[in-house]
Amino acid sequence: MMNFSNFLLLSFSVVMTASCIGGRPPLYKDASAPVEKRVEDLLSRMTLEEKVGQMNQFVGLEHIRKNEASLSAEDLKNNTANAFYPGFTADSVAEWTRQGLVGSFLHVLTIEEANYLQSLAMQSRLGIPVIFGIDAIHGNANAPDNTVYPTNIGLASTFDTDLAYRIARETAAEMRAMNMHWTFNPNVEVARDPRWGRVGETYGEDPYLVSRMGVETVKGYQEDLSSDDVLACIKHFAGGSQPINGTNGSPTDLSERTLREVFFPPFEAGVQAGAMSLMTAHNELNGIPCHSNEWLMEDVARGEWGFKGFTVSDWMDIEHLYDLHAVAENLKEAFCQSIMAGMDMHMHGVYWNEYVCELVREGRIPESRIDESVRRILGVKFRLGLFEQPYADEETTMDVRLCDGHRKTALEAARKSVVLLKNDGVLPIDPQQCRRVLVTGINADDHNILGDWSADQKPENVVTVLEGLRAVSPETDFVFVDQGWNPRTMSRSQVDKAASVARNCDLNIVVAGEYMYRGRWTERTSGEDTDRSDIDLVGLQNELIRKVAASGKPTVLVLISGRPLGVEWAAEHLPALVNAWEPGMYGGQAVAEILYGKVNPSGKLAVTIPRSVGQVQMIYNHKPSQYFHPYSGTPSTPLYPFGFGLSYNKYEYSDMNMDKPDISAKDSVKVSVKVRNAGAMSGEEIVQLYIRDRFSSVTRPVKELKDFVRVPLEPGETKTVEFTVTPDKLEFLDRNLRPTVEPGEFIVMVGPSSSDDDLLKASFHVH
Ligand code: BGC
Repeated sequence: MMNFSNFLLLSFSVVMTASCIGGRPPLYKDASAPVEKRVEDLLSRMTLEEKVGQMNQFVGLEHIRKNEASLSAEDLKNNTANAFYPGFTADSVAEWTRQGLVGSFLHVLTIEEANYLQSLAMQSRLGIPVIFGIDAIHGNANAPDNTVYPTNIGLASTFDTDLAYRIARETAAEMRAMNMHWTFNPNVEVARDPRWGRVGETYGEDPYLVSRMGVETVKGYQEDLSSDDVLACIKHFAGGSQPINGTNGSPTDLSERTLREVFFPPFEAGVQAGAMSLMTAHNELNGIPCHSNEWLMEDVARGEWGFKGFTVSDWMDIEHLYDLHAVAENLKEAFCQSIMAGMDMHMHGVYWNEYVCELVREGRIPESRIDESVRRILGVKFRLGLFEQPYADEETTMDVRLCDGHRKTALEAARKSVVLLKNDGVLPIDPQQCRRVLVTGINADDHNILGDWSADQKPENVVTVLEGLRAVSPETDFVFVDQGWNPRTMSRSQVDKAASVARNCDLNIVVAGEYMYRGRWTERTSGEDTDRSDIDLVGLQNELIRKVAASGKPTVLVLISGRPLGVEWAAEHLPALVNAWEPGMYGGQAVAEILYGKVNPSGKLAVTIPRSVGQVQMIYNHKPSQYFHPYSGTPSTPLYPFGFGLSYNKYEYSDMNMDKPDISAKDSVKVSVKVRNAGAMSGEEIVQLYIRDRFSSVTRPVKELKDFVRVPLEPGETKTVEFTVTPDKLEFLDRNLRPTVEPGEFIVMVGPSSSDDDLLKASFHVH
């Protein structure tokens, strides 16, 4: 019997043969012809409707069917994760695809559906394949049966750029193995507000770290953008990570200086790394919605940075120009504004095709403007080899997805991403001393460790913390007291039960934090569209921690969360605190190995952890006057600073040297420092270099991260670490926003965190 893949291959060759009858195949079907020529040839054969269709995206058929059964039209208005098209069915979308009026799909979660939809597109008049986009934010986790790595905030905590590259490469392989071609990642927003629920999908608060991780991720996905690769999407452009009230999509008001100093650099770096798609942000920026912001899309991205790819809107955000921001009087006007501001593809939906065609016919959008967008989109489709390879093989797909090598990387990433924040000596746990151990908390035995942007995955592909502990220390009697997964509905009797069990245990492990699982969208406490007006633990979690700690037995708190949490009481009163972020499929194993000292923790914070929401904005690279008048009655210091993270070793820093005390603005300085592992375990230390421009014509941050390196060190071993401070690391924008290096003193700081107490300092002069 013929399986579906063989059927598709056969029908594909039938279409190919049919189009060749009576002569040579058209140029655009010739894989050996240059991409530009193929694009022009195809474009010349397309009707206006087909062109405008290439600029449109739809959610997949299964997604439509599921949501038309469960959501009302009213529910759709504020839902940014689920959709259907009132008045139209999945069959309508299938038919449009067959007619060549759909350029792309998102939210297609199986290879079978992807192949099926592609077979419809291949039946269209010109046989132009669709490009499948998916939110593969940390592995292709949003679809079942794929490798789930830590989310970006955990990945950033590894400060391991090579790991970011490898994860992106592996993700590309898993995506292509299920016929997905375009990931809506990396999210290169600089996260400076922990109330915002999306911190977990970013690389944190520092523009330099975000840029480095983003660049490697783009390279890993795209390589040379051919048939083994996927298209990267840098998003969301721009400023949505600092919304005025912390809520996703609310207005952003940022000076051009702050945009250019803080928020733009990772996007510019992503463009330079070759990112070929860019998603605009939900929010308005200084009064202009990003989706109709010509300055962002045309002047900055294309004009200044030379962006060559295509722009894509975010979920229903062109519609929101009309029904939310009210800068367009109707939908058609909204489409017009967005396209004329530089938008190339519409995520997602009906009415686009008819209105945009009308706008062209009415002369309001030149057809040449449409051609520009279609060229960009088709160029990417040709380069990715979609015309030659429109399907993925259903029989071999699982040879790639979840293969041993990818699982190994997921475990390595989880181990490196966990940040040890406090240890009064209780860790690593000694199984001889701690024979009976209480394990409790909402995240102790839950797949929530997978993080936001993950579908549920099969139990055999996830190790929860409890499972990890049992596997790592089989001789220990772990007593589990279940608190359920939902922090908002925790029961006091279970809290009291844990407190009473604690009295008969030698040690307590409370695995607390946030709830991010997308399958329970409205129950979450963190993640996309789940913003908060505080950063405390939700529900009875604090009570649980306090009551368990009152047993007098040492209590270890493990946090699973996408955002920093202000756990001030725990940080003060508990002997050990571990932040595991959203560690992915092997998160439970990694946490257990770290608690038991099988792995030496090495992660460092990619975001500052404030004590409370009242301290927000709390960032390490603030301006000199920020704490001139400190808070009255409460500290002005963070709970934990950016770059901070302990290991089971002590690393000693000494002998900081520079090769020159004085340089010209075009020269570089070499800075070296000795780092010694003074502990008994082998480990990896993340050595960080910060710079401050002592006096400058505009105010400059008290310090800025300018380089870092992970250094493996055996017990007793000393290594000399050398950094080169190049002129670009001294540069800033002058009063007219022009890049400059000003003469004067620069302070160089090297150490294990951004905290002044941790840093060795020296200075040099620029003449
Ligand atoms: C998010 C995007 C995402 C898109 C598709 C939007 O709500 O803001 O980041 O790529 O949905 O899922």
